[in-house]
Parts: sequence; C-alpha cells; structure tokens
Amino acid sequence: MNDNLHQLRCFGCGVRIRGDQAGSIFRCADCGDLFEVEYPGWSRSGGTDRPNAGALKWLWRERRASGELLDHSGVWRFREFLPILDSFGNAVTLREGNTPLYHLPRAAKALGVDQIYAKHQGMNPTGSFKDTGMTAALSVAKERGFEWVACASTGNTSAAMAAYAARAGLKSLVLIPQGKIAWGKLAQAMDYGAVTCQLNTDFDGCLRVLLTIVQQAPIYLLNSVNPYRLEGQKTPALEIAEYFDWNVPEHILVPGGNLANSSALGKGFREMKELGLISRLPKISVIQAAGANPLVRSFEANGGTKLTPVEANTRATAIRIGNPASWRKAARIVQETGGWCLDVSEAEIAVAKAELGREGIGSEPASAVTLAGLKKLVAAGRVEASDTIVLLLTGHTLKDADYTIDFHRGTLLREEEAAPVLPEIEALRRDAVEVEASPDAVLKALKEIQDRWV
Ligand code: F0G
Repeated sequence: MNDNLHQLRCFGCGVRIRGDQAGSIFRCADCGDLFEVEYPGWSRSGGTDRPNAGALKWLWRERRASGELLDHSGVWRFREFLPILDSFGNAVTLREGNTPLYHLPRAAKALGVDQIYAKHQGMNPTGSFKDTGMTAALSVAKERGFEWVACASTGNTSAAMAAYAARAGLKSLVLIPQGKIAWGKLAQAMDYGAVTCQLNTDFDGCLRVLLTIVQQAPIYLLNSVNPYRLEGQKTPALEIAEYFDWNVPEHILVPGGNLANSSALGKGFREMKELGLISRLPKISVIQAAGANPLVRSFEANGGTKLTPVEANTRATAIRIGNPASWRKAARIVQETGGWCLDVSEAEIAVAKAELGREGIGSEPASAVTLAGLKKLVAAGRVEASDTIVLLLTGHTLKDADYTIDFHRGTLLREEEAAPVLPEIEALRRDAVEVEASPDAVLKALKEIQDRWV
C-alpha cells in the first residue's frame, strides 16, 4: 500500500521536488534554503486527499483505545497528518509522544495568570522531544534502504537517533562537541551502540563537518535540516489542541536552539487551521539563552530578516547554538502568529528550572527558558490574566543532573551572575547535608533546616 502523499517545497524560492529528489544535505539546489514537507492533496478543496476535520478528530480519539502498535505512538496515531512513508508498516516506533500536560498552579499564582501548563516532551522514550521527530525521519531512512544514519548534536538528537537506529537495525554516527554535552546524553549514545565522535569544536562546527561527510558517503542525515524530522515534531501541537478540545491556548513558549522545534510546532498549528481542525493560531514565542541568542538579535536588528551567527555560550548546553539552521522558518512562525522572541539570563534559567522542580516537574535547563521567558512576557504586559499558556519542556531532568546539583550546592553561577536574583536562588536551594547515621542527628538536622528553609 502506498500511503505517501507528500512533496518537498523550498522554503526560500518555492521550488517543488519529489521527496526522494532531495540531496544528501537537504538544501535547495537553486537557492540553498531548507525544504518543507507539503501535502498537495490537502489544498485541493473537495479533493479526495483532503482529510475531513471531524472524521480525523473522531479517528484519532478512537485510536487511543486501539491495540495496534502504531496507534500507541503519539506521533503515528496522527498518521494522516504526516503521510510521508510509502507504507506505515515501515514506521520505527518506541511509543513516543502521548506526553503529559501538567498544570502549574504555583507558577500561575505567582504570575497572576489562571492557566499555565507544561507540555513535558522530556517524558518521551529517550527523555527528549527529539523522539517525535526521530521516529518520522528515521523511518524514512529505513524505508529508503539506508544502512547508516548520522547527526551532529548537543546531545539529545544523538540519544534519540542512536535509540531509533538500534531499534531499526541501522548503524549510527554521532558528532558531538567535546566536553560540551551533558553526561546523561553521552551515556545514551553509547548505550544504544552509536559510533560517537567527540570533536574539538562546537555544535555548529560538528554540523559543518557532517555536511561534508554525508556528501561523500551513503549516510542519511538526521539533523533537523531534514524536513521529515519536523513532521514528527509537529505532533505535540496536535496533542495540545486535542487536550483543549480543539480550542488552542493563547500562548505557546518554545526554547530556541537550532530553531526547528518552534518551526515544527508552528507548522502543526498552521496545518490544523488550514484543514479546519482549529479556528485560530496560538501566539508562538521563541525563548533563547542570552549567551546563544542569534534570533533575538536578528529581530532587534532587522525584524528577523537577516541573521548574523554568534559565538554561543550557555550552561543550557542543549541550546548552545550560534548559527541556527532553521532560523527563517522560526522567524516566520513568530511573525505569523504574533508571538515574540526574547532571551533570558543564566540566573533566570536556573531559578526557573528550580521553580519547576518545586512543582514536581523536573526538566533540563534548556526547557526552563520557557518559564523564565514567560515571566518576561507577563512583566511586559503581553499576557492577559485569562490567557491559557503552554510551556514546551523539551528534556528530562536526569539528562543533566550535574547542572541541578551544582545549582543546589551554590557552585553553578558566578557571584555577579547570581546577584540580580540572589534572594530567589537562596530560597530555592536545597543542598544535601551530611549527617551522622543516628535518628537523633537526623532529627536535629531536620530542626535546623526547617528553621532555615521557610
Ligand atoms: N531543548 C532541548 C532539551 C534540546 O535538546 C534542544 C536542541 C532544544 C531545546 C532546541 O530545539 O534546536 O529545535 O530549536 N537540541 C539539539 C540536539 C540541537 O542536538 O539535541 P531546536
């Protein structure tokens, strides 16, 4: 059975090609821009390929009770929305997606907003949102007969790729920046059997090296320049819309690194609107770390029309990216939806992460930029008290336990970095104490700590 209804459209010049005509680096031969997947049948109104919104909603809900393996995936449950495979039987799945949407009552109270939610993409099989994109693009690699797949990564993409490649019986090559990724992520790539090369450069340098390699060897590129990644990564938008009974929230906040995720979610919402599943778009805002903020600078300098790469530096290593590949797509989503692009400091990220933790929601630092960014949007009067807000949390807290421990020990931030939010930091820190192994000593320590920690 051929389930495939897609083609690729260049984001820059609009040229259209067949999916299998894209070169190994997924750049347009005419203008060098990235491709986007499109489904020509959807735009023909009355055409047989255009899905019916009501029927889709019903079908997707029915599948939640299905025993079929593919229906257990929060990506492939929505497969009519990403018909990219010749046969859905080729899908490689680890039951990704179906991630929780947590209400954050304490953040809501503190910010004077009724409804703040965290869509926790860190609750995916390898602990990050990358799984939703990887199941899509790696399935394409498998269907097209590749034996090798590869990515450059700040850690999460490599963990996801290595796991899905292992499931599919493919071999994987990982290029990561030496000493600049969290241990949890490096451990995953090893565990899943990837060939892992640590290069003496940053993420942007790793990607440059890999782009040359894939032009010389039959290796399938799984970075987010690969447009099929975005097809999987748009499905959390469907989960969010479905959760709210197809009434979309007013605001979605997404961390920005290579800027594919914000693009993917925006594409998901846009396509839902085009197909009549939802009636309006949420405002999508991209939040970057101040030390890795090329899109913020681009908006400030020229309204998001030109991007100058920066040398990136942040402890939120997942988003330590100075030359984001998908910046044009992300800029368009921010503009089209009326969202904002802003940055947050290292201390603001650390505080936001600890605050999420205190609501019982662990996340890696790159995810916490969203709560830090929301505080800024509220302070600037860009959020109504009655608005519903969804923060995209992208990675699991155990990915980068060192960061958390350093924060609570008080060794994470330099004095001058911590100074602007010192009272918040001190109220949140919960360092472990060494106590003698006796009940009396523990009770005494408890008393002392209770007096100090309000
Ligand atoms: N949050 C986390 C936890 C990430 O790992 C990444 C990206 C992002 C946010 C940013 O998403 O790049 O789509 O804007 N990590 C990539 C990687 C680059 O290699 O794992 P983006």
